[in-house]
Amino acid sequence: MSLPSFLFGADHSFAPSLRAAFDETGIVILRNFATPEECAALKQRAFDLIDGFDIDAHRTVFSTTTQAHAEDAYFLNSGGAISFFLEEEAYGADGRLKRPKRESINKIGHALHDLDPVFSAFSRSRKMEAAARAVGFDDPLLLQSMVIMKPPSIGGEVTCHQDSTFLYTEPETCVGFWLAIDAATLQNGCMAFIPGEHKGPLRRLFRRKNGGTEMVELSDAPYPEDRRVAAPAAIGDLVIFSGRAPHMSRANRSQNPRMAYTLHMIEAGAHYPNDNWLQRPAGMPLRGF
Ligand code: FE2
Repeated sequence: MSLPSFLFGADHSFAPSLRAAFDETGIVILRNFATPEECAALKQRAFDLIDGFDIDAHRTVFSTTTQAHAEDAYFLNSGGAISFFLEEEAYGADGRLKRPKRESINKIGHALHDLDPVFSAFSRSRKMEAAARAVGFDDPLLLQSMVIMKPPSIGGEVTCHQDSTFLYTEPETCVGFWLAIDAATLQNGCMAFIPGEHKGPLRRLFRRKNGGTEMVELSDAPYPEDRRVAAPAAIGDLVIFSGRAPHMSRANRSQNPRMAYTLHMIEAGAHYPNDNWLQRPAGMPLRGF
């Protein structure tokens, strides 16, 4: 089985069958959603942000005896910030970066769509709004954004999960919009999905507890990984997927980068629990388009 894919019209129109395909499989791919020039601009901006990030100072903070607490706080505050998270394999045994700084970052998040002018403009473009409406959003709010670097050689594996585990609303309304900034292939760790499994249960819930976080098991139903379908993507393709759609990606052991930009939206009318991990600081409410 291949995943449903659609061409994105110059007038921001989609085939009427897109919505039905999304509801049926939980995933649609919009081919040529962004131009190569737009992707190049996003990539350059991500590199500029990394260039301005003091990796040594960051590491010093996290290498004290309160490491776990400092890391927790940095993560928990990132819902209203532009924060940098390193690859697990960034440092060699000699304590030095294995790769250049630009290739040592796992991701940047989680409020690029509000705090960075380049990512904000792309995230709030008319065509992104058209994509949101095409999959059924009525009053979308832009909740979370990430640049996923998946750098050559050390880009880490992401095991099978559902994004509603991390971005939960009642009722569940989370949808992910994943843009290929680099071509994503079987060799450099493209995404893979289990089509139709968004109709299965939400397995886990990740939430704040006692100043830290906890993972709550909701269902022990295994992911039917034998039905997994790879989702290779060309530069500019946008993969839209339900917050319930299980997905994963392998490590990038190739010499090619696999940068992506992800944006998650929720419906404004849904309840957003105050123990969700991602909380926005006072004075920085979620906004739509
Ligand atoms: Fe995910």
